[in-house]
Amino acid sequence: MKKGLFIVLEGPDRSGKSTQAGLLKTWLESLGREVVVTREPGGTYLSEKIREILLDPKSEIEPMTELFLYETSRIKHTLEKIMPALKAGKVVISDRYTLSTVAYQGYGRGLDLKTVDTLNRIATLDLKPDLLVVFDMPDRIFADREHLRAGRDRMERQSDAFRRRVNRAYKLLAKKPGVTRVDAGRTIEEIQADIRSRAARLLKRAR
Ligand SMILES: Nc1ncnc2c1ncn2[C@@H]1O[C@H](COP(=O)(O)OP(=O)(O)OP(=O)(O)O)[C@@H](O)[C@H]1O
Ligand SMILES: [Mg+2]
Repeated sequence: MKKGLFIVLEGPDRSGKSTQAGLLKTWLESLGREVVVTREPGGTYLSEKIREILLDPKSEIEPMTELFLYETSRIKHTLEKIMPALKAGKVVISDRYTLSTVAYQGYGRGLDLKTVDTLNRIATLDLKPDLLVVFDMPDRIFADREHLRAGRDRMERQSDAFRRRVNRAYKLLAKKPGVTRVDAGRTIEEIQADIRSRAARLLKRAR
């Protein structure tokens, strides 16, 4: 049986994660791999319910509650969807995972980064991505895509200062060891080519 492969795409809002996830799925399927594309918060019935609470503008959620809600959603997602798919030899592409909590609740909300790390480890049962891609969004592009912001959900309604902190956090996180940094300011095709070449190396090793 083929070995499962866990790919995570991380980055600020509108940095191109979903676009790249879709293209990557098509390519991996053309290579004969079974692919599951999933997202956070969400991915399972319970996790999608928690997503609704988190994104509902009427929800009043203080930072620590927000952190636990994201992590609760993550435990279920990891156990019920990601791990079984990997075990079955599939490729799992997750649109956001633990680094989102570091960026948004850690750097964005100002919660203790060690606490965030500890909860991330618990919520993932120590599962680590085989490929962790972080979109580094140049400020110019960040500003250009502001008009695409629907502003309907609770996270999209956060202040400019909050979103700038998150954007800066991803720039830092993109430089961490083990992270594949992607310059989100290039064309969709250029970015996809980069991600594919990384994934191709992993596929070769996994055979
Ligand atoms: N490299 C690119 N160059 C130009 N436009 C792009 C690029 N990648 C994505 N886009 C466009 O930018 C917008 C945001 O892309 P996408 O929805 O993939 O981002 P996202 O990271 O999934 O956003 P969100 O966090 O809001 O879900 C879309 O309109 C998409 O077509
Ligand atoms: Mg998206």
